[in-house]
Amino acid sequence: KTIMTIVGARPQFVKAAPVSRELRKRYKEVLVNTGQHYDHNMAGIFFEELHIPRPDYDLGVGSASHGKQTGDILIKIERLIEETKPSAVLVYGDTNSTLAGSLAASKLHIPLFHIEAGLRSYDKEMPEEINRILTDHVSTLLFAPTESAVRNLQAENITKGVHLVGDVMYDAVLHNYNLTEEKYKLDTFGVHQGNYYLSTIHRAGNTDDPARLQAIIHSLLALNETVLFPIHPRTEKMLRDLKLIEKDATSGNIRFIPPVSYLEMLLLERHAKAIITDSGGVQKEAYFAKVPCFTLRNETEWVETVESGWNTLVDPLTMDLNAIISAHQCGPYIDNLYGDGKASVSIVKQIYDYLG
Ligand code: UD1
Ligand code: UDP
Repeated sequence: KTIMTIVGARPQFVKAAPVSRELRKRYKEVLVNTGQHYDHNMAGIFFEELHIPRPDYDLGVGSASHGKQTGDILIKIERLIEETKPSAVLVYGDTNSTLAGSLAASKLHIPLFHIEAGLRSYDKEMPEEINRILTDHVSTLLFAPTESAVRNLQAENITKGVHLVGDVMYDAVLHNYNLTEEKYKLDTFGVHQGNYYLSTIHRAGNTDDPARLQAIIHSLLALNETVLFPIHPRTEKMLRDLKLIEKDATSGNIRFIPPVSYLEMLLLERHAKAIITDSGGVQKEAYFAKVPCFTLRNETEWVETVESGWNTLVDPLTMDLNAIISAHQCGPYIDNLYGDGKASVSIVKQIYDYLG
């Protein structure tokens, strides 16, 4: 049997790596890369470093408005499903590539499997929240990473096909953790263990509002250590438009660097004094690395990181990040909040129970 997997954005490459490895033990996988992300350091480098198989189809859609990007992917995936007739379609997370794949599969009555189902921020202004809700409501099998995700689905009357499997990003971390120090060295980034903050910001809610983006930069400038900031292209564009980034890519103690590879990112996360982010994946990776995280948002889908005391929500417009970091104490570390690192194995087992 053939399963068509759809990926397109950076976090989906990371998630697909462990699942694809497991899936290919039982099924023929047709890997479709929508091309939502296309710069080498946002896409190609992940295929190389994580040994993700070459995509069978590159749709090359690139950047556009939500409607155009989603529509272009939908048209192309619909055609591909009709040509290749997969037994099921597999999507990850909450991007426009996820939604387009979900719509194409569900309208053609192809079973749809959603990895990272049930996450909710309860903020419908987030494009991702719309993508998740719609995807979950047309999915056949829903792979939830946490109990809170299962409860969120129950609250929307989705109980059939729901499986609590843990988080595939934990599988990815465990698989790659030891490789990071072999391949990369911290001093090439000009920082030392515990003497820098690591920051990534890219959410539309933070980048598209100039006052909020300015407040974020001011919060980072007030910190007393170097802030290493691998910069998402969306954020770089906005910071340059607002003249918040200097020509030499520094601003006070903030050092902007191009997006780094996954193994470099794990290395930088592990040795940081603290992580300041709005990324979903990075909040969890901070927890896996046992490094305190400060999330510059008003809510998070990864509530367990906050409840355990390892992640703190900070509104940059009204709260003093520096004071919060200085006063912060982490709670006791709880293992396995996101499963046992074998989510991919459980997922393929459930798929086998369903598809045979
Ligand atoms: C997307 C996802 C978001 C996810 C993020 C991961 C949606 C709605 N959003 O947001 O959920 O957290 O990916 O990183 O699907 N750009 C480049 N080069 C690239 C990719 C993007 O220059 O390789 C620039 C373009 O100017 C583009 C902008 O970044 O317009 C935004 O890219 P897009 O894929 O639309 O959304 P992200 O903000 O990356
Ligand atoms: N990441 C990376 N290099 C970077 C920034 C992030 O490899 O410069 C990785 C990060 O370690 C995590 C994933 O990308 O595995 C998270 O993706 P992103 O923050 O773009 O999206 P989100 O998780 O918020 O959807």
